[in-house]
Amino acid sequence: MTELPLSGIKVIDFTGVQAGPACTQMLAWYGADVLKVERPGGGDVTRKQLRDIPDVDALYFTMLNSNKRSLAIDTKSPEGLEVMEKLIRDADVLVENFAPGALDRMGLSWETLQKWNPRLIFGSVKGFNDDSTWNDLKVYENVAQCAGGAASTTGFWDGPPTVSGAALGDSNTGMHLLIGILTALIQRDKTGKGQKVSASMQDAVLNLCRVKLRDQQRLEAVGYLEEYPQYPHGEFGDTVPRGGNAGGGGQPGWVLKCKGWETDPNAYIYFTIQEQNWVRTAEAIGHPEWAEDPAYNTAKARQDKIFEIFGEIEKWLADKTKYEAVDILRKWEVPCAPVMSMKELANDPSLRKSGSIVEVDQKGRGSFLTVGSPVKFSAFQPEIKGAPLLGEHTDEVLAGLGYDADQIEDFHRKKIVVGS
Ligand code: COA
Repeated sequence: MTELPLSGIKVIDFTGVQAGPACTQMLAWYGADVLKVERPGGGDVTRKQLRDIPDVDALYFTMLNSNKRSLAIDTKSPEGLEVMEKLIRDADVLVENFAPGALDRMGLSWETLQKWNPRLIFGSVKGFNDDSTWNDLKVYENVAQCAGGAASTTGFWDGPPTVSGAALGDSNTGMHLLIGILTALIQRDKTGKGQKVSASMQDAVLNLCRVKLRDQQRLEAVGYLEEYPQYPHGEFGDTVPRGGNAGGGGQPGWVLKCKGWETDPNAYIYFTIQEQNWVRTAEAIGHPEWAEDPAYNTAKARQDKIFEIFGEIEKWLADKTKYEAVDILRKWEVPCAPVMSMKELANDPSLRKSGSIVEVDQKGRGSFLTVGSPVKFSAFQPEIKGAPLLGEHTDEVLAGLGYDADQIEDFHRKKIVVGS
């Protein structure tokens, strides 16, 4: 088998919930030796959250911690801290996403880590960055979506700020941190030195709301945003409004009803009117006369009647399922897709073929579905395995650090560690 790109990289995964684990899971998929360090009393909270089978690690945990090993140890005990020191002295990367100050309170400040191992790359996720006036806050997904601009710009104008179903605050921040850690590893090759890499959830959400900051400046300059449904018939205030399902610029789009929408909540497609494809689009939807009609044949001309046009397209869609509609529209090069339910995605043969959704065997559970690597490589294919049981590797890790059998037994007796 091809050697994986990150093989030989030792990662201490001192993370929990989603943001940190998503980052370290990907390091593990790509070959790093990722050791998850967990509290003896239950481990990562997601092991028990939203369980679907009694006494079996929840999918929340198994879907974010595959390919890792687990050491369950009380790092607040002197013995636990000594184990952490040994691990850190030998590690390449330590990742954490505890509440602000938790690591310092444990005696693992960045200064201490650097002293122990100047080559260490220390990856840290917090809700807000160090300069924020909110840098003391504990933060979960939706808090970050609200703080980072996603919620104020998502949803409909006559409804409240709305969060996305995508984990823009959690997994997205983990991916940002991952980019930072890999960058720091490359820099370490040049300088020999480690560094601290921080990613805040607010910053990571904001990074994905870049186009909304663009729109804020455009709004301030001209007083309106022509690609938003509020234009030209509605009102604009002084901040970027919620635009429903509007597409951007010269490529307006909307979610349109297809056959069966009355009973199926996902019988819709997203339809884009691509400016350069107008002639074919008009033909595709049964209005060839619009192709050359000056009342329709430019984006500007269509703007004030865009919802009437979408209404006409819905009439055309009324006797077509979302799949049939896309099959027709693809021939006319209309950018479109069916609105896919999670059930449809779970059963989609092409996502299985590509390894984007994989079936994994998990101790105590049997097989379950998880999302595989969204990045595809020509030189290797990551193999997604199960997640570790709590403390599954405790004894093997302690033995590897030089503790003898009596000492390990003593740790168990004092309940400093658990094994499975
Ligand atoms: N042994 C002993 N103690 C341990 C331990 C171990 N192996 N692992 C963790 N702990 C301790 C921590 O040191 C902390 O102790 P302290 O509060 O006395 O200092 C305690 O367990 C709980 O830490 P934490 O999980 O951070 O607190 P929480 O459950 O109250 O908060 C979050 C959870 C997610 C809100 C918080 O961790 C946070 O804001 N993290 C940063 C942002 C983030 O990643 N959010 C989640 C995105 S998915």
